[in-house]
Amino acid sequence: MTDRIPIQQWDEQSAETAVTLPSRYFHDATIFAEERERIFMKAWHFGCHVNELSEAGAFVVRDIFRQSVILMRDRQGEIHAFHNVCQHRGNRLLNETRGVNKGVIRCAYHSWCYGQDGALRSAPRSDRLAGFDKQQHAIPAVRMEVFADCVFFNFDPDADSMQTLFPGADQAMREAIPDLDKMQLVEEDDVIVPANWKVIMDNSIEGYHFQLSGPCHVDLASLIDFAGYRLRQFDHWWTYGAPPNPDAIQAYGKPLSRPPEPGDGFFNIGIWPHNTFYQFPFTQCLGTFMMIPLDSERSLLRFGYYSAQQPISEVSRASIAWMNDELGPEDIDLNVTVQQGLHSLGYNQGRYMIDAERSNESEHLVHHFHRLVFRALHPEASRL
Ligand code: FES
Ligand SMILES: [Fe+2]
Repeated sequence: MTDRIPIQQWDEQSAETAVTLPSRYFHDATIFAEERERIFMKAWHFGCHVNELSEAGAFVVRDIFRQSVILMRDRQGEIHAFHNVCQHRGNRLLNETRGVNKGVIRCAYHSWCYGQDGALRSAPRSDRLAGFDKQQHAIPAVRMEVFADCVFFNFDPDADSMQTLFPGADQAMREAIPDLDKMQLVEEDDVIVPANWKVIMDNSIEGYHFQLSGPCHVDLASLIDFAGYRLRQFDHWWTYGAPPNPDAIQAYGKPLSRPPEPGDGFFNIGIWPHNTFYQFPFTQCLGTFMMIPLDSERSLLRFGYYSAQQPISEVSRASIAWMNDELGPEDIDLNVTVQQGLHSLGYNQGRYMIDAERSNESEHLVHHFHRLVFRALHPEASRL
């Protein structure tokens, strides 16, 4: 099917009458390659909570595309981010996702050893070489920032700081999740989904399907005051959520031990382009939801769960199982069938369901998110 409007004019549509990005934006490998360079290689990526790096030598390794980054705390308490690659012949250094490295990072090939800041400490036989200067072989650093108690990295040395790009987002997180600084990792689960990263993102930023799709969604809607569900857009971040249902007496199959309080609501925050943090109703957990693209039609979903309570409360524990085994799969099934449908010769662009009130069922965040994608891909057509 042909496009309904010339693509250069797509961003000129008004939100309330706009049609979606054409289907090819969700499966074309050339467009995906552009997204990789223009969006992801310049994006701030969530790495870990700062408490995952609480001791000297603690590290987390994060991979995206063919890149791998080590986030590590040194003995002086400073956090470093550097590429996970030996400066001798390019061997990958660390293969574990998490750990504590008490000594040096030793390359398994010829035993070059690096400090916790990525500096080269020793290289066997290098004393025999003419003009070998260890300082010239430090592992290149990667941009790193701690924002809202979370460690983020960025491959673009010229990227704007997170405070510049996302003003107010850290405050919104702290207000919604008062124990943000006390969070400890409970578990992390990776799922590979055969869908474009934007298909998954679109699904997570609209409430239109809550009462209209599967049974777990209806369950979720029953835990909140759905009439109070609000989706708010800011420049490069957005929030969506609702107060708790004041009549709820159970959640995720567990009885609630006390009446609902205002802080028991559902809170989500998205940070451009693919970082989502949330708190499920009636839990004191921090959930992270990362869409890590693998290619134009496959994404790695990383579900991280954090809790400030040790041990984690029964309701919070049940919410993790519910997300992993019930709500998550229900959404993933929808994402997979959308990805299939986007190849149909019978579909190209649909209508965003955006109402004037920007109500609880309005798809304005999907449109806003697509605009950010479009503007990154077509800076020449941007009206910014
Ligand atoms: S590749 Fe690492 S020491 Fe040779
Ligand atoms: Fe959903």
